[in-house]
Amino acid sequence: MNNTPHNDSSSLKNDAVSMSRSLQSGKERVLVKIIMMLLVVTFTLLCSLGGGQAQGPNNRYEENSERDREQTGIDRQIGEHAGRMVEEGRLIFRNDTFGDEAFWGDTLKLHRAIEGAKFGGVGPGVSPKTALAVGLKVDMDTLPQPLVQQIKQGKVNLDDPAITLALVKLNAVLGVQGQFNQDGSLKSIGITCALCHSTVDNAFAPGIGHRLDGWANRDLNVGAIVSLAPDLSVVKNLLGVDDATLKQVLASWGPGRFDAELFLDGKAFRPDGKTAATLIPPAFGLAGVNLHTYTGWGGVSHWNAFVANLEMHGKGTFYDPRLDDAGKFPVAARNGFGNVRNDPDLISAKLPALQFYQLAIPAPKPPTGSFEPAAAARGEALFRGKASCAQCHVPPTFTEPGWNMHTPADIGIDDFQAKRSPDERYRTAPLKGLWSHQSGGFYHDGRFATLMEVVNHYNNFKRLNLSETEKRDLVEFLKSL
Ligand code: HEC
Ligand code: HEC
Repeated sequence: MNNTPHNDSSSLKNDAVSMSRSLQSGKERVLVKIIMMLLVVTFTLLCSLGGGQAQGPNNRYEENSERDREQTGIDRQIGEHAGRMVEEGRLIFRNDTFGDEAFWGDTLKLHRAIEGAKFGGVGPGVSPKTALAVGLKVDMDTLPQPLVQQIKQGKVNLDDPAITLALVKLNAVLGVQGQFNQDGSLKSIGITCALCHSTVDNAFAPGIGHRLDGWANRDLNVGAIVSLAPDLSVVKNLLGVDDATLKQVLASWGPGRFDAELFLDGKAFRPDGKTAATLIPPAFGLAGVNLHTYTGWGGVSHWNAFVANLEMHGKGTFYDPRLDDAGKFPVAARNGFGNVRNDPDLISAKLPALQFYQLAIPAPKPPTGSFEPAAAARGEALFRGKASCAQCHVPPTFTEPGWNMHTPADIGIDDFQAKRSPDERYRTAPLKGLWSHQSGGFYHDGRFATLMEVVNHYNNFKRLNLSETEKRDLVEFLKSL
């Protein structure tokens, strides 16, 4: 059997040799050359015709076929598409309210509290100082040079709500979009993804700097901002609570937290009496991660549609019949959150670019000097070996490729937050860029104040027998991610 192909090929070779011998005369050689040339020409023509058809009739006989191939080549198409999607996604992430002004402005009338009585609203208004104090961030790159100079010279009154309005008008306040009347007062206000998932690098002053998209804003006091709204009746009705209760709930969140499940199940506090709100997570380093949110509600696009429709109150389409479970999600089931339809739909068409953008945001690298490299290297060996962290936090995404979910018992914590989600599990947290969101603590509810507390938890729960030095090395590794 083995010999058969060998024999075949050698007999082919023999045929070729005898053929070339029989074509010795000069005439015959010329003839062969002509036939060969004709074949090449025909082949080339056929190829260019085929390519031309694919490009449409107009380009069929384009002279420079090399350039032609480059312009219409699939690689280039894909590259251009990716670039366009990232650009579009950036704008949506930063500036798109999905029509949620109808909720934050028209319904809650938040804009009236921001502008204050002087501009026809209510109350004292929100000064830049107050805005910064509740964790709102200002993008210094949108500020005109004269204003920058005036701020530097202390000539801008940071107690004046008029300055806040000017900043909103310049699109300088991250995640806040204002609509203005002719007289400069606010007509309405909306919020964007950047409100919670962006911050600034404080290059100009605390709270004022260059945008850092994807970073968790752990200073942002969402509860304090919402409770500024003059008319919270819709929220009270939704949850079936009185004013005092709602204010108490909003006050319990504190900086860097928001409760995305409150508007599904109406649970505001954990059994131990602490707030049920979770920490705002980063929206970077998500490429390659299967399920998102602390309890793995879905992929990026599922959650984006969820948030844009149900939390930001934009106008779109959302379908998730898991929310029809009245036992688990009474508020959502009562209000039909599992099947939302709006016409026009201002969300669905934006989901592809929005997802593209988030997947394109890399986790930020830790600053040099923020961790000890030799200790981090030893920590990495422990992470992969003795401490078996990498079993779940699989590098380089640091979550499991596949169904990245665990029971509360797997990680030795209570099931309160897990039970507020469809799969009743916790998602293995991707660990890249951990250093950038240390304020507020770790795990979904910040129960561990420091990375050492996290390591101590695993050490006790999993009986890892780590020495104090090993624990420190492991922490240095976590800081290096
Ligand atoms: C009011 C603050 C707030 C706004 C606005 C907001 N988010 Fe979030 N986001 C959160 C919180 C809190 C969570 C965690 C929810 C959970 O796990 O239950 C979260 C989770 C996420 C996650 C999951 C991250 C991970 O680690 O898996 C992504 C992605 C995300 N948000 C993207 C967005 C996008 C895109 C928008 C705009 C359409 C948006 N968010 C608007 C607060 C916010
Ligand atoms: C059985 C799987 C599993 C193992 C093993 C495991 N983790 Fe985790 N880890 C998780 C899950 C799930 C979460 C999310 C918990 C939450 O959100 O409440 C998490 C969260 C974390 C966080 C918090 C991240 C954040 O953004 O707050 C850190 C840090 C962490 N793990 C480090 C480690 C280290 C270090 C080890 C090894 C000693 C380890 N993990 C072992 C599953 C695991």
